[in-house]
Amino acid sequence: MTGSSKTRKRVLSGMRPTGKLHLGNYVGALQNWVGMQDAYECYFCVVDWHALTTDYADTSKVKEHSLEVVYDWLAAGLDPERSVIFMQSHVPAHAELHLLLSMITPLGWLERVPTYKEQRENIKDKDLGTYGFLGYPVLQAADILVYKADVVPVGEDQVAHIELTREIARRFNGFYGTQKAVFPEPQTLLTPAKKLPGTDGRKMSKSYGNTIQLADPEPVVRQKLKTMVTDPARVRRTDPGNPDVCPVGDIHKIFSSQETMAKVNEGCRSAGIGCIECKGWAADAMVQLLNPMQEKRKKYEDNPKLAWDILEAGTERARKTAGETMADVRASMGMSLEYEAPGK
Ligand code: TRP
Ligand code: SF4
Repeated sequence: MTGSSKTRKRVLSGMRPTGKLHLGNYVGALQNWVGMQDAYECYFCVVDWHALTTDYADTSKVKEHSLEVVYDWLAAGLDPERSVIFMQSHVPAHAELHLLLSMITPLGWLERVPTYKEQRENIKDKDLGTYGFLGYPVLQAADILVYKADVVPVGEDQVAHIELTREIARRFNGFYGTQKAVFPEPQTLLTPAKKLPGTDGRKMSKSYGNTIQLADPEPVVRQKLKTMVTDPARVRRTDPGNPDVCPVGDIHKIFSSQETMAKVNEGCRSAGIGCIECKGWAADAMVQLLNPMQEKRKKYEDNPKLAWDILEAGTERARKTAGETMADVRASMGMSLEYEAPGK
């Protein structure tokens, strides 16, 4: 790792192991992480325990999906030389701190979390009336606080969780950190939301089945683009269209050069180009981004042990940092492992 640890602020973020990542995951989080690696001391965690908060009944895919996520992280440019890449469930201190934080977290705080209410109402195919599901944000707080992270890059949907993490940190410091605050209150670094549509024009999301994966080979990318919905006003080739209301236009805005964007704007509005041609350019831009990633990914797919070793080494470093925090936590609570004569 370059630079000494306290000259740079510390970042922690996590991603659930959902299997192969798609371009929405990339522009919504991963790309941002890749860009933070020089300015910050970064910890990136595959939060496999978090996957269990909703998918506890079938754990058969968790490990495989975690490894897939790591392939994509490495392929996209997370660099194990600069960043700590690790697996949550291999650092038991997350569970230990989660337990202690659960003691001081009022139930009302958890019941008020917007995602909790929403998901209890919307997810009907599994029973989310569990202790673990309610406590999800406490586990997330433990993920962050066990590294004393200063900054947490997340999307809009996670802001309430980081807010709660700050409240829990404050409460812990209030009870036990009377000499000196144990936990810094982490700042949210909001990842700008880019509008990336999937092939059906809705937001790209695994649950809609409309994704383009980082690992999709060129022919698949081109095929998916071909089926993509366009500005409905362009029924015939001679009808003018508007890239601002076309999902393919949104894709160009994210991935294409200024030059291509200008050609799209002019050609679409004047009916000078056809949608097939326009989609071909969008596919070109994606393929150009994905090609080098896929080359890197192949290295790990061909030799999964390589990725596993990176994860192990990262986990070792994470365990060390987390262990230091837990020593502080225990000491602040008067529960250190050191012998003290009774009655003192
Ligand atoms: N809850 C986050 C999500 O669903 C994942 C997560 C778990 C996380 N622990 C974290 C994100 C710690 C940032 C920091 O996306
Ligand atoms: Fe969309 Fe391109 Fe067709 Fe215009 S030319 S409607 S931007 S696909």
